[in-house]
Parts: sequence; structure tokens; C-alpha cells
Amino acid sequence: MLQLDKARAEDRRKLEALLWENGMGYADPIEDFMLARQGDDIVGCGRIEDYPDVVMVRPLVVAESFRRRGIGRLLLERILPAGKPAVIVARGESVSFYSAFGFTFADWQTIPIHQAHECTTCPDRAECCPQPMVYSL
Ligand SMILES: CC(C)(COP(=O)(O)OP(=O)(O)OC[C@H]1O[C@@H](n2cnc3c(N)ncnc32)[C@H](O)[C@@H]1OP(=O)(O)O)[C@@H](O)C(=O)NCCC(=O)NCCS
Repeated sequence: MLQLDKARAEDRRKLEALLWENGMGYADPIEDFMLARQGDDIVGCGRIEDYPDVVMVRPLVVAESFRRRGIGRLLLERILPAGKPAVIVARGESVSFYSAFGFTFADWQTIPIHQAHECTTCPDRAECCPQPMVYSL
């Protein structure tokens, strides 16, 4: 059965493996990650960064063999706070997911500067096709 709860110290190795498999990095503290668990496995994770005017989703990942079962949507519903817009820099391939959730295209100016800078200087930019998106409740 699928279960959503906060990551704990002992989840670190599996969480890092999931992130690494998807080209994403880990960031402390581990409790900031919401996990989707299936038995002993971690099959998804989501985290937000809180800024004065927005929250940024960074990252949201579902293990490849568990995609298209609604887990990404469940994680996003759990981590997004009410009352603040959320932004994301979606990889091109995940734009359909965020659009289906209700995100719309946005300007790079809406994205916290360190994330925008990371994308500008990223060697994988052309392949990734990063797309700023915003969601307001
Ligand atoms: C993006 C991601 C988190 C989506 O997770 P998921 O669990 O597969 O998404 P869900 O099953 O909740 O999808 C909900 C809806 O989004 C849309 N959607 C999701 N993936 C889609 C895809 N690849 N193509 C088109 N629509 C898609 C569909 O409308 C879907 O509903 P449906 O399956 O009933 O048609 C997952 O694909 C992933 O981890 N990708 C790699 C990492 C990544 O790019 N993360 C985003 C950070 S930029």
C-alpha cells in the first residue's frame, strides 16, 4: 500500500539513490522531503523551498516504474501550502504533468535567482528544455 510521510535519517541512502537515478541532488535537512513509500521502498519524493512570496518545488520525482499511477499528483497535493503561489522549473518532459495539475507557463523572473542561474549555466540545458511554471490556488 502506498504511504506518504516525511523522510527520516534512515531513509537517506534510498532517497539519494532515487534522486541520483533521476539526475537530481539531495539537500539537507532530510525532513524537508515528503516520501511516497511502497513497503520498504521509496518510490517518490517531493520537497519545497519557502521564499517570502512563493514556494518552489525542488525536486519532485517518482521512480520510473511507478509513474502514471497518480503518485506525483498525490505528492504535490501534500507538499503545496495553501495561500502562496508555487513555482517550478519543469524539465521539458514533465511540462504535461504540471499543466495537468494546473500550472501555467511563467517568466524566468518569477523563479528564485539561484535556480534561474543554475539553469542558465547548466550544460544540459538544451536537452532538458527547462520551462518556468506557476500555480496559484
Ligand atoms: C513528473 C513526474 C514527477 C510525474 O509523476 P507521476 O507519478 O508519473 O505523475 P501522475 O501519475 O501523478 O500524473 C498525473 C497526470 O499528469 C499527466 N502526466 C504525467 N506524466 C505525463 C507524461 N509523461 N506525459 C503526459 N502527461 C503526463 C497526466 O495527465 C496524468 O494523469 P493520467 O495518468 O490520469 O493521464 C515523473 O514523471 C518524474 O519523476 N519525472 C522525472 C523527474 C522530473 O522530471 N521531475 C519534475 C521536476 S522538473
